[in-house]
Amino acid sequence: MSASWQLWRDKRGRLSWLRIATLALLLFPLAKALFDADAIIHGARPINDMIHRAGFWALVFLGATLAVTPLRRIARYGNLIEVRRMLGVGCFCYIAVHLTLFAADKGFDLGKVAHEITHRWYLIVGGTAWLGLATLAATSTDGMQRRLGGLRWRRLHRAVYGIALLALIHYFQQTKADVTVPVFAASLFGWLIAYRVLAWWQDTGELSTLSLFALSVTVSALTFAGEAIGIGIAFHVSPMRVLDVAFNLRAGIRPGWEILAVGLSVTALDFVRARWNSRARRLRAVAAE
Ligand code: HEM
Repeated sequence: MSASWQLWRDKRGRLSWLRIATLALLLFPLAKALFDADAIIHGARPINDMIHRAGFWALVFLGATLAVTPLRRIARYGNLIEVRRMLGVGCFCYIAVHLTLFAADKGFDLGKVAHEITHRWYLIVGGTAWLGLATLAATSTDGMQRRLGGLRWRRLHRAVYGIALLALIHYFQQTKADVTVPVFAASLFGWLIAYRVLAWWQDTGELSTLSLFALSVTVSALTFAGEAIGIGIAFHVSPMRVLDVAFNLRAGIRPGWEILAVGLSVTALDFVRARWNSRARRLRAVAAE
């Protein structure tokens, strides 16, 4: 078997626990679907259930792909970059299954599939994101990277942010009632994109612990405000009332709290890793004297 197909091995051909863990993560939704097979088959709409699962996990892996760069800097764990391509291609595999299941739901009548994708807004948006992800997956190989050249390749792959935005819009458009998970997903993507914008603006690869703290609090505040305004408009209630319910935890833990918890956790991780690294540097300097 060619080494490039042995996904559990790193570039030097050594067994990599990071890659094995990533593979396990990518296969988890498949295993879960098999575990739930009985409930899926006897459910009201088995194919629709699987369309939802594939779409949801594709979005999760898209988020995981975008999280690699901030996380490897915050955790000071450069090796994480090794699994970014695996996560991105994994995302595309789930999105390919998502579209195949959609076609299966239409009895593989490709005329009908094409007609729906070009005539319903949420499918036009999803279809555009799909084409974008397919382009990124097709150009993700080392050969394509060489052929395009580093700069052009990086420019092309920046499209992932626009694709993520389209995927989120598609998610919101087809959500019928409870927007809790889509709002949390949007806030998480917002945090990841704001991280990059801030790093670019400050002209630095790494954000300070204080910047991470400020970023997390700001994204959390915007999530509370966005959800309150959205629910206020949709249900003709005052956003202040929605905020009151959210702050008093009367509607459970809202996405604003969840993103704050995630943001503060990575801020704490950054704080610990920064101190750990500087202590290790000091010890090395003392040992070298
Ligand atoms: C041609 C492309 C696409 C088609 C035909 C399509 C079709 C669908 C359909 C039919 C649904 C279920 C709607 C319902 O039950 O009312 C759905 C849901 C969803 N799709 Fe797509 N989609 C496409 C692209 C994408 C892309 C690119 C993403 C993200 C990367 C995505 C993520 C999702 C998500 C997250 C859901 C909701 C899952 C949930 O309920 O948890 N879709 N899509």
